[in-house]
Amino acid sequence: DFRSECKGEVTSGLKNKDGKYARSRACCPPNLEGGIPADYKLPTESTVRLRWPAHKGTPEQVQKYRLAIQAMRSLPDDDPRSFINQAKIHCAYCHGAYHQPDKTKDIQIHNSWLFYPFHRWYLYFYERILGCLIMDPTFALPYWNWDDPDGMQIPEMFIPETIYCNPNPLQVEVHREASHLPSEKEPKIVDLTWSPVNRAEQGLPYEKQKACNLETVYRDMVRNGHDTPSFFGGKYVVGSDEISIRDKSVGSVESGSHTAVHLWVGDSKQPNNEDMGRFYSAGYDPLFYCHHANVDRMWKLWKDLDLPKHVDPTDPDWLNASYVFYDEKKNPVRVYNRDSVSLKPLGYNYIEEYPIQDLPWRYSRP
Ligand code: C2O
Repeated sequence: DFRSECKGEVTSGLKNKDGKYARSRACCPPNLEGGIPADYKLPTESTVRLRWPAHKGTPEQVQKYRLAIQAMRSLPDDDPRSFINQAKIHCAYCHGAYHQPDKTKDIQIHNSWLFYPFHRWYLYFYERILGCLIMDPTFALPYWNWDDPDGMQIPEMFIPETIYCNPNPLQVEVHREASHLPSEKEPKIVDLTWSPVNRAEQGLPYEKQKACNLETVYRDMVRNGHDTPSFFGGKYVVGSDEISIRDKSVGSVESGSHTAVHLWVGDSKQPNNEDMGRFYSAGYDPLFYCHHANVDRMWKLWKDLDLPKHVDPTDPDWLNASYVFYDEKKNPVRVYNRDSVSLKPLGYNYIEEYPIQDLPWRYSRP
């Protein structure tokens, strides 16, 4: 049973001044009745959930999204769909809570070819849970459109502390870098090459930063991600050691723009750059899922570019790799990489503003 397999407490990382971690280090899912997870059956409904660019959300879309997150935050702690239990999924799959099947090593779903399919399934269930909580089968997540000059700031809906008479469920109790929040005075756009190490030298003027970001997306999507292994990342199977982010085999988007966004959003005043700056805590910021919707969209766009070597992996070790999630009805289910490759059977897609060849970064060759 996957829950009794879970080791619980993770132990790396720094504590803050009062000797505490910024977030709980206990990552295991709650124990529910109901044995071994069954293979997941794809939904038969014909509705398509259309994920929308966060900076273009209509008041209705934003309102629905906030209500859904609020509903998720209100679930009790023993509900596997609760906000905290959803955040813990990320922690469990990246901080040594699960063993590999041969029990010698831990599972790490980053820095390898598991990156795209794992996160696709993670968001898939997260989106369905949110939709279920507000009883809307068409509910779709927003995506943080950081590959478009107009979408490079932290989307506005994440910012105000209160809306009407309530705290904003997209911002309450999250740790984010205060100096990177958009302000009235100046636009604060993300730096897709950000790394906290040389932060002092960074910070380009606005127009330059925009151009640099477009070049970075081009680099990750076309030049550095020119074939299957360079885009998806290296092979990782039972017996593999954890691959480090510094290893050249990590996928182009994962090691590039994806990680830069994490580190740019995480709060430098927290001991480990929580929330977004660290795996165990990233899922505590709703912006994480919005960011990952765009990362997931990059996988779709990469194939839509229709370049000769832009094809999904076909290695059976990749196709048959699987994960366990709770679905929107609280049933534990097993899902496979092979069922993640196309969006149609999964019942969602992305609203695109431009045809693929007109995307702002399409010809931003550095
Ligand atoms: Cu699971 Cu963006 O990390």
